[in-house]
Amino acid sequence: MSEDKKVLDLKQRMEKIYGGGGAKAVEKQKAMGKLTARERIIALLDKDTFQEYDIFVKHDNTDFGMQGKELPGDGVIIGTGFILGNPVAVYAQDFTVAGGSLGFAHARKITKMMDYALNMRIPIIGINDSGGARIQEGVNALAGYGEIFFRNTLSSGVIPQISVILGPCAGGAVYSPALTDFVFVVDKISKMFITGPEVIKTVLGEDISAEDLGGARVHAEISGNAHFFAESEDECFAQIRRLISMIPANNKNKAEKVVPSKPLKKYDITKIVPADPSEPYDVRDVIRAIVDDSDFMEVMEMFAANAVIGFGRVNGETVGFVANQPLVFAGVLDCDSSDKIARFIRFCDSFNIPIITLEDLPGYLPGIDQEHAGVIRHGAKILYAYSESTVAKITIILRKAYGGGYIAMGSRHLRSDFVFAWPSAEIAVMGAEGAANIIFRKEIMEAEDPAKMRELKIQEYKDKFANPYVAASKGYIDAVIAPEDTRKFVEQALSVASTKDVGRPKKKHGLPPF
Ligand code: HXC
Repeated sequence: MSEDKKVLDLKQRMEKIYGGGGAKAVEKQKAMGKLTARERIIALLDKDTFQEYDIFVKHDNTDFGMQGKELPGDGVIIGTGFILGNPVAVYAQDFTVAGGSLGFAHARKITKMMDYALNMRIPIIGINDSGGARIQEGVNALAGYGEIFFRNTLSSGVIPQISVILGPCAGGAVYSPALTDFVFVVDKISKMFITGPEVIKTVLGEDISAEDLGGARVHAEISGNAHFFAESEDECFAQIRRLISMIPANNKNKAEKVVPSKPLKKYDITKIVPADPSEPYDVRDVIRAIVDDSDFMEVMEMFAANAVIGFGRVNGETVGFVANQPLVFAGVLDCDSSDKIARFIRFCDSFNIPIITLEDLPGYLPGIDQEHAGVIRHGAKILYAYSESTVAKITIILRKAYGGGYIAMGSRHLRSDFVFAWPSAEIAVMGAEGAANIIFRKEIMEAEDPAKMRELKIQEYKDKFANPYVAASKGYIDAVIAPEDTRKFVEQALSVASTKDVGRPKKKHGLPPF
């Protein structure tokens, strides 16, 4: 065969595989509002950068009518490409080929890419659209999942791992995404569950739709399994590209420095935060007043909204924000917000992204529901995460810092490097009303006018503790700063901390309150 003919032959072979599961299956995929696997990768990556590997891989299963059955690419597409110039490894399951089900050859393609990403220290992005373990392959399919889970764990904290759910993700298939750092879902398209509606009907006799069981909103709002929610696949890819630009390629590199496009806007932060400590405000406005270009990328926006986490940049360098959100339940900490915050701190610490904590909370949420849900265990995760982390940490107390909330939210005692407080900060064991009721109960009860006495005692407690100066007098905070100086202090703290080098005792690993 001449060279030209050989190239033509290669192209013909590839075209056949590009057809995936055939025109009918592709039509069905499109009718569901979904792109095909290859279209997805191309939409995600920089133009003309995708290079595909293992296109000719075949399965060798002979059971249940599989002998010689053509499954193009064995139902998964793998390769490398670039996002905003940053190299990434990628795989996308092709639902048009045997429902994107995971057989051993399919799994081997994915694990090849995972090994590659880990060795090259580049992020890996997995697009999931699959009926789960390929039933005809039995234990071989299960082995494939096990190999993936092991590598997810190995890569954790070394390279960013991103999962995109763009179709069903059923059974054990959900556990790889759950082991990765960020899970993206798309409204009406993403479905994640351990047991599908049909099994639930058979076992429990309950009728429930796939959407209600494990649709995108369920995981973005209720379960907390998803970190980013999009209305469409295109919006989802834009979110992934933005995230990749914000985070480093691995735990030894820094995220690319991005020069701000506009000069820093002057905000009057006192206009954002009301003087009355009981009045709510949106803490994201304070974050936007601190970061370059007011550009804040929120993570888990719809879940546990009483806490806010996400990325922004200061002088072009990525920082992570952890904040209480006074707009939702007064910014109180509970089980879900504790999980959300603790996990984010650990991500930032793994990848050396400095953490800026904005504190304004009345403490941990009291009550039987939270106690029974394990607020002790969940709440302890924040204490563990801050204490364990060695990355640069800056805390700013905006208003309330009561009780356990004061300690938990990046206090000096958990080794924040810089703790600043605004003059409006109130650092106390609890709010003045509650405190007065407890410690002056006898005097209030025995007074001629108990209501007046209570007011007096509340004021007395406020005068003593509802300010930052007692904490400042002990050195628990480094400086009381005017709100308009916040960015200036943050900038200098980040510069000073850029060469930070502290350790923790050597051990195999600790035991965080999982
Ligand atoms: C083999 C599968 C498959 C699977 C789907 N297909 N899932 N083939 N193994 N797991 C095939 C179908 O036979 C069909 O082939 C094609 O993919 C499209 O599937 P449809 O059912 O026609 O599509 P749809 O109606 O959209 O339904 C999608 C679905 C459904 C909801 C995902 O297929 C489904 O419920 N599949 C099984 C899900 C499941 O229980 N998986 C095992 C989980 S257990 P043809 O040839 O007709 O086009 C598991 C254990 C792992 O994963 C444990 C690790 C810890």
